[in-house]
Amino acid sequence: LETDARTRIAAAETLADLESLRVEFLGKQGSVSALLKTLGGMSAEERQSEGPKIHALRAGVSDALSGRKAALEARALEAQLASETLDLTLPAPEAPRGSVHPVSQVMDELAEIFADLGFAVATGPEIEDDWHNFTALNMSETHPARAMHDTFYFPDVDAEGRRMLLRTHTSPVQIRSMVAQGAPIRIIAPGRVYRSDSDATHTPMFHQVEGLVIDKGIHLGHLKWTLETFLKAFFERDDIVLRLRPSYFPFTEPSVEVDVGWQDVNGRRVLGGDGDAPGHGWMELLGSGMVNARVLEFAGLDPAEWQGFAFGIGVDRLAMLKYGMDDLRAFFDGDQRWLAHYGFSP
Ligand code: PHE
Repeated sequence: LETDARTRIAAAETLADLESLRVEFLGKQGSVSALLKTLGGMSAEERQSEGPKIHALRAGVSDALSGRKAALEARALEAQLASETLDLTLPAPEAPRGSVHPVSQVMDELAEIFADLGFAVATGPEIEDDWHNFTALNMSETHPARAMHDTFYFPDVDAEGRRMLLRTHTSPVQIRSMVAQGAPIRIIAPGRVYRSDSDATHTPMFHQVEGLVIDKGIHLGHLKWTLETFLKAFFERDDIVLRLRPSYFPFTEPSVEVDVGWQDVNGRRVLGGDGDAPGHGWMELLGSGMVNARVLEFAGLDPAEWQGFAFGIGVDRLAMLKYGMDDLRAFFDGDQRWLAHYGFSP
C-alpha cells in the first residue's frame, strides 16, 4: 500500500489532486485510517507487531503528502514570479516636458551679453511704492507724465503711509541700486512691469530690462556704444545701425529715443542696415538718456562727481523681433502649439 501511495502522490500534478489523495488515504474513511481502526480489534501481541507498521505507514504517507505539497507550492510560486517579472530594459514612456519661454530665453540672453560687458543683474519689487516708481525719478505728485503710465494703484496706503502700486517700469530699480550701493554702478534689471492697457501690442503685464551705468566722465557716447554692442550681439548681426532721436523722460536729461534700421527681406522687415537707405526704415526700439541730475540727488549721489546713462527696453518686443512673432498677447496664453511653432519645443 505504501509504495502504491507514494507513487500516486509523486504523480499528483495539482494541489487539488493531492488533497483528494490525502482524503483517500488519511481521511476519516481513508484506507490508512481504516487500517488504524483495525488495531482496536487486535490481540495485544498482534497490536504489538502490527501497530508500529501501521503507524509507520501513516507517517510515511503523511510525509509523502507534505513533501509533494511543498514541491507543488514551490513550483506555483516560481511560475507566478516568472510571469510577474518586470522587464527593466523596456524603454519608459516619455513624460511630457515643457520648454523655456521666449521671454525667459531673451532675459537669459540679455543677462549673458551684458555680463560680458561687466553688468551685474539687479532686481526690485513688482509691488512698488510711489516714491521709487515716480517721485525719485523726478515725477512729482502732479507731474503730467504720471498720467501716461496707466498705473494700477492699491486702494489703501501701507503701514508707513506709502501709496503702493504695481511698478509701471523697471526704472525704480535704478533708484534702489543707487540708494543701496552708491556709485559706481553697472547693472541691468530685467523684470515684469504693469500698465492698465491691452491690445495686440500691449498686455497689462509685460517685461522690461533696465540698464544703468554710473561712473565718472560718462557721456552719451558710452550709451550709444553699449546699446550698439548689445544689439549686435543680441540680433547676431554686424550691420545693426542706430539712430538717436531727442526725446523726453523726466528721469533723463538729455533723453534719447533709439531707433534701429531695418530692411525688407522677402516681404519681411529684418533688422540691420541704414534705415535711411531706399526701401529701408527705422523702428523705435527703446528709451534712454543721461541720468537726470535731480534723480542722482534724490538717490543721494552728487551730480558734480557722478554721471550716468540709463535705458529701458521692452523684452517682449525684443523677443518678437528676434523670433518673428507678431501678437504680443500670445506670449501669455501658454499655448504649447504656439511655442512649438516658433521653435520653442522641448
Ligand atoms: N522707463 C521708461 C519707460 O518705461 C524707459 C526708460 C528707461 C527711459 C530709462 C529712459 C531711461 O518708458
